[in-house]
Amino acid sequence: MKITVLTLFKEMYDGFLNTSIISRVLSKKEHEIKLVDIRDYSHDRHRHVDDTPYGGGAGMLMKVDVVHEAIMNNKDEDTYVLLTSPKAKPLTQDDLKRLSKKEKLMIVCGHYEGIDSRIEKYIDEQVSIGDYILTGGELASMVICDGILRLLDESISSDSLKEESYENGLLEYPQYTRPVEYDGMEVPFVLTNGNHKEIERYNLKMAIKETMKYRPEMLNRELSDQEVLLIKEIEDEL
Ligand code: ADE
Repeated sequence: MKITVLTLFKEMYDGFLNTSIISRVLSKKEHEIKLVDIRDYSHDRHRHVDDTPYGGGAGMLMKVDVVHEAIMNNKDEDTYVLLTSPKAKPLTQDDLKRLSKKEKLMIVCGHYEGIDSRIEKYIDEQVSIGDYILTGGELASMVICDGILRLLDESISSDSLKEESYENGLLEYPQYTRPVEYDGMEVPFVLTNGNHKEIERYNLKMAIKETMKYRPEMLNRELSDQEVLLIKEIEDEL
């Protein structure tokens, strides 16, 4: 996968690219993040990339001609172009899985009050990372890169990807490590007794419990017989 990021703030990527899992995935050379400074496509010697909006309104807009040229000079025919925007549908794990299958992605980071709306003609999909407003699209683009690259990381086992939150329509069950007792809190006995069938059932029940507590709307879907049974068990215990 090659991800090209168009940004006004390349330096925001410094820590991200040199850290832990991301630097390991990129060191394999199979995957690449290329940073492009949108300002390199500015048309004037002061390197302006923004201008005031027609019709008035607060703030500045990024210029469509500058951003369009930055896109066209850095994409191939088969590059899938994303634009970060708080106006779009919030990103989900399913979106990340779908995007991780693309060979070439481009992420255009919006800034200031946004980009001249005519940019939409050159964009395949707009992506928000949540219903709140950031100062710009750089953090959003790093969230997208991070979520995709970890799916492409061969050293994360497919088992651990299958067990994580959102994978099976549930949040992940709580987990524990040593010590077995800490500050009066004990690790549930069932997890320490080595009975794998019991552990599996317990973990599924706890995953359902977490989901009922934090994200009950995730259970508004077709449930398996075992899920129905465990929900009833949890409700009876309340
Ligand atoms: N730019 C500003 N806020 C954003 C958000 N929530 N998601 C994506 N891009 C943004």
